[in-house]
Amino acid sequence: MSWIVDSSLTFFQKFCVNVIKCGPIPNHIAFIMDGNRRYASKTKVEKAEGHVKGFDKLAETLQWCLELGIKEVTVYAFSIENFKRSDDEVATLMKLATEKFQKLLDEKDRLMAEGVCIRIIGNLSLLSPELRKLIAEATLMTKHNKKAFLNVAFAYTSRDEIVSTAETIVEGVKKGFLDVDNIDEDLFSDCLYTSASPEPDMIVRTSGELRFSDFLLWQIADSHICFAQVLWPEFCIWHLLACIFKRKMGMTGSKGS
Ligand code: FPP
Ligand code: MG
Repeated sequence: MSWIVDSSLTFFQKFCVNVIKCGPIPNHIAFIMDGNRRYASKTKVEKAEGHVKGFDKLAETLQWCLELGIKEVTVYAFSIENFKRSDDEVATLMKLATEKFQKLLDEKDRLMAEGVCIRIIGNLSLLSPELRKLIAEATLMTKHNKKAFLNVAFAYTSRDEIVSTAETIVEGVKKGFLDVDNIDEDLFSDCLYTSASPEPDMIVRTSGELRFSDFLLWQIADSHICFAQVLWPEFCIWHLLACIFKRKMGMTGSKGS
């Protein structure tokens, strides 16, 4: 499946999307797409097929977000912890990523027409040169797009990002670009992998697990959290609309509370 798909919403679902759009819509949603392997065993298919279904659901979810007017999406596609899985599974996920990033380049015209800027955040030194090249090409190709932003966290953990940020700042001080007195929360945010993005308004995790799994720990300090009780490939527009509605109901209207 492609990264950009046509709308699969029914007339009634589109109507509900328009109703929800009358209220506050998050500008930026982060997704922890969990449950692909449980979905594979539930539906008696290979693990690899569960991950393919996971990618297909990602493409569908991105289309819903475009229809809802959500400008930015960040997804947890591969954690540094995932390198501890079996060699077979890591190879399968890397192959899937290579195919999908290649497909993204092949679909250049569609992506540019939609104005989607793609960023990959993570410790890219842990990836193969082939994957790094594809990622660099996709990033450069779309860097001037401004209609929508998709951040793919790949070889990412928050703690790795925070250590890397601290190293960047130390380097800046050592080289004399920065003074120790310049170090504050804003500077730290500006040195994170996510420096180009606003903080997520909402984080959604599927599969029923109530954990953050080392994802965007700095950035979600003030985000609404929504746990969806379905496996990622089963996530549907109703779950997304319910999360947006629950955030609206929980909004106090003021930061700092
Ligand atoms: C979590 O389910 C999912 C992953 C570790 C991989 C997510 C990857 C995709 C959805 C494909 C995206 C690919 C690209 C290139 C963006 P799990 O494997 O932890 O399943 P479980 O929780 O049931 O064990
Ligand atoms: Mg999991």
